[in-house]
Amino acid sequence: MQTGLRGRDLISLSEWTTEEIDTILEVASQLKRERALGIAHPLLRDRVLAMLFFYSSTRTRASFEAGMAQLGGHAQFIESRTTQIAHGDTAREIGEILGRYNDGIAIRNVDWGIGNAYINEVAEASRVPVLNMQCDLYHPHQVLADLMTIREKVGDPRGKTITVSWAYAASYQKPISVPQDLILLATRYGMNVRLVHPPEFTLMPEIVEAAAENARRSGGSLELMDDFDAGFRGSHVVYAKSWGALLTAPDETDGAAIAKRYTDWITDERRVALAAEDAIYMHPLPADRNVEVTDAVIDGPHSVVYDQAENRLHAQKAVMALTMG
Ligand code: CP
Repeated sequence: MQTGLRGRDLISLSEWTTEEIDTILEVASQLKRERALGIAHPLLRDRVLAMLFFYSSTRTRASFEAGMAQLGGHAQFIESRTTQIAHGDTAREIGEILGRYNDGIAIRNVDWGIGNAYINEVAEASRVPVLNMQCDLYHPHQVLADLMTIREKVGDPRGKTITVSWAYAASYQKPISVPQDLILLATRYGMNVRLVHPPEFTLMPEIVEAAAENARRSGGSLELMDDFDAGFRGSHVVYAKSWGALLTAPDETDGAAIAKRYTDWITDERRVALAAEDAIYMHPLPADRNVEVTDAVIDGPHSVVYDQAENRLHAQKAVMALTMG
């Protein structure tokens, strides 16, 4: 277990060692157990977290806010469009000022080509830890919860196959941050990762190369595929979600037109039956029901989406307790 994590930012998990990530997950499991037993753990009494959102959220906002309250502190919800950020507050000013009011700053900014740079700029000016609640490149707190869930449901991830696949959705061009962070983390933990998508839905080449390097080091593997059915065959973890064609068509309308070529990329019972008998179905939510995944799958026996969503709470509490204490 690693100590001495106080004051650390969590913007990308690539800045954290595997041993440090293991520490987060160990603490998360301890806090989960204590909550189940009704044991209070006010580790951040009188501490305040600023939660700055440039983009909508259900789970991330609710779990960070509940988590701070359960740790004895408070979280303040700040929206970019209802503050003076819309009138010119700079990233540097946000880092300086919110860092003087708070004990941590959490930010969601998924604007393509902007979000990660913005969060890093705030962090450079901040005297307190900065936590990434999702940017254009990474969603570290989501994939921490995902890894925690895989360990709980499947056991040791080493040698297990995870299918990280694109699926069709009509609602909007979803960020690529979840699949990017997921292939990076799963390959670090020795999983056999299948990255499955139509040709227009590539992830950033440097991220895919980094995941391949992770796999070489851990003894896992990374396989690129474009056949949705083949991606399911024998897999232990099926993680199929939509993302935008951001690298080929950043424009929303162009991206939607490309996606329409692949409306049959829906996770249904036939496809889940191709996976391992005890395979789990994962999705970070929100999902486009009966477009991206059928009700029968997301509400069915293989689905672990609610336990996965719950683990956001425990994983984030661990990160906050370790970095903001
Ligand atoms: N999975 C996730 O980040 O959900 P929200 O967008 O609702 O926060």
